Amino acid sequence: SSDMLVDSFGRFHNYLRISLTERCNLRCQYCMPAEGVELTPKAELLSHDEIIRIANLFVTSGVDKIRLTGGEPTVRKDLEDICLHLSGLKGLKTIAMTTNGIVLSKKLPRLKECGLSALNISLDTLIPAKFEFMTRRKGHSKVMESIDTAIQLGYDPVKINCVIMRGMNDDEICDFVELTRHKPINVRFIEFMPFDGNVWNVKKLVPYAEILDKVRQHFKGVERLQDHPSDTAKNFKIDGHVGTISFITSMTEHFCAGCNRLRLLADGNFKVCLFGPSE
Ligand code: GTP
Ligand code: 5AD
Ligand code: SF4
Repeated sequence: SSDMLVDSFGRFHNYLRISLTERCNLRCQYCMPAEGVELTPKAELLSHDEIIRIANLFVTSGVDKIRLTGGEPTVRKDLEDICLHLSGLKGLKTIAMTTNGIVLSKKLPRLKECGLSALNISLDTLIPAKFEFMTRRKGHSKVMESIDTAIQLGYDPVKINCVIMRGMNDDEICDFVELTRHKPINVRFIEFMPFDGNVWNVKKLVPYAEILDKVRQHFKGVERLQDHPSDTAKNFKIDGHVGTISFITSMTEHFCAGCNRLRLLADGNFKVCLFGPSE
């Protein structure tokens, strides 16, 4: 109907991403400088009530999926409360969160009760020392524990976001695929996106076709799955594996035409595209 969120490209926006904070307890090299990012003064951040009010407006207009992001959403003290009140919005089918998994494991039972159901957990390496180098912080075992807790508690889906960079973790691609043999997870290989201020350059980009080739050389029965509409990932299953793998091809095959996302920033500004300006 006319009050639905259809844009001038005919895309129906039913998916809202809400950034709860700019703060993060990691300093991933591809995301932030060592000293962190400039933070909006606390008084200018969206409050719990403002978030719920805005979310309510969007859900009334057809949004049925909300993803909580950051920075790192778990550093917000009212995260559980926010989930609880979002879960009361009629018409909202999914509350998801993208997190680095560092302080997640203990919070997961309560978050589930509050209505959170889907988790994307970032993990770029299976080697603790490399984790510390890439994120400039310790905590690899905590992330691994969070992944297993999420599976045990029945979060569905549990996706692992793995940004692949040449010379950094491209030697671990098959180890990540191996994780899906026994774990019911979706490992997503993400093309590294160079942007202003991150120290990596485009030479670090490993194109999706190359990652897929590598996977096919080591695993038999790698089969493309049917795409879900407006999914940003290309999904594959592998013979005998309980989990699946996917590719997010932001650089080599962008998916803008089908993008259904709206972005609410922690300071209340809106952004329709990850790559676009904030007004
Ligand atoms: P679901 O599809 O709901 O699982 O979430 P998502 O994959 O959109 O969200 P997530 O926060 O897990 O982001 C994972 C990756 O998706 C990011 O690292 C980006 O590479 C990519 N991504 C998310 N949104 C956009 C977007 O608007 N444009 C582009 N180019 N990439 C995006
Ligand atoms: N390129 C690709 N993905 C990135 N992320 C953060 N910075 C980049 C980048 N430069 C990923 C994180 C997280 C997701 C929300 O975005 O790893 O999984
Ligand atoms: Fe950035 Fe996410 Fe890493 Fe935090 S965990 S530094 S927000 S990529």
